[in-house]
Amino acid sequence: MRGKRSTLTQAPEWQALWPGPSPAQAEPLLKALHILTAEGRLNQDSRRKLKQVLHLHESIRRSLETAWEVTPDPLLADLGAGKSYLGLILYDLLIGPSGKGSVTSIETRPELNEAAARIAGQCGFKRMAFLTGAIGQVALDRPVTAVTALHACDTATDDAIAFALRHEAALVVLVPCCQAEVARQLEAVREHPLRQLWRHPIQRREFGSHITNVIRALVLEAAGYKVRVTELIGWEHSMKNELIIAERHQRSNPQAQRQLDALLQQMPVRPLCARQLSVCN
Ligand SMILES: C[S@@+](CC[C@H](N)C(=O)[O-])C[C@H]1O[C@@H](n2cnc3c(N)ncnc32)[C@H](O)[C@@H]1O
Repeated sequence: MRGKRSTLTQAPEWQALWPGPSPAQAEPLLKALHILTAEGRLNQDSRRKLKQVLHLHESIRRSLETAWEVTPDPLLADLGAGKSYLGLILYDLLIGPSGKGSVTSIETRPELNEAAARIAGQCGFKRMAFLTGAIGQVALDRPVTAVTALHACDTATDDAIAFALRHEAALVVLVPCCQAEVARQLEAVREHPLRQLWRHPIQRREFGSHITNVIRALVLEAAGYKVRVTELIGWEHSMKNELIIAERHQRSNPQAQRQLDALLQQMPVRPLCARQLSVCN
């Protein structure tokens, strides 16, 4: 067949990625999010974001479906929602088709919420709400079934953990972003037997992120969650790639609490999630 022009046309790249039964139905949403161009091609700038969101969807789909099934009026809170890519796509793929429950996006920048609310309106996503405010300041007057925080900056991930605990979330999904707070704490530590681990600025950032995420996972475990820590997607797509998935299975876990206490005793830093925990206890 060499030299002969094929009459088969390939489906666009994004359709091969799309996990829903009908990619065509998702096209207006993806165009409104500028993930697709007006001609229906994948916008190269948004390709990474689409891949991140779809990987996250794949990693949590079963857990989210289970939490959704067992809850009469489930609610997903997407924290530090930005343009609400995640909330809108999860609504399109799971929450809309489930016929029940709702999504609330929480974001400090009102213009992002207004734009996302317009898109939700255009797509007929009636069970979505957009709250403008800081995660730490928002209190919903009802439990939340699932909390997601994709690349919520610096301590916003810690606020997301406190929010999840306050609202008794069954499922907590975090992809932490940059971490500056603990790197600053490490910089101030002049004498410590482990100081060589964070002597140089790049190591302070990396070690600061690492120890913060270790403590975040232990905080969730101590609060009774079963925690998995894995990677979201290949490193070529994002440097902020650690995925923490926590599913609640008991009210508390004294053994994890002891492990957390022992680690904190050895570490000269206190990320916000650990400080918030000592306020709760
Ligand atoms: C890096 S963006 C990620 C946005 C989105 N989750 C995504 O992955 O596309 C982080 C977002 O969190 C918001 N943010 C940061 N701190 C926040 C806080 N304390 N409360 C609510 N939103 C916050 C920022 O305004 C920004 O839109």
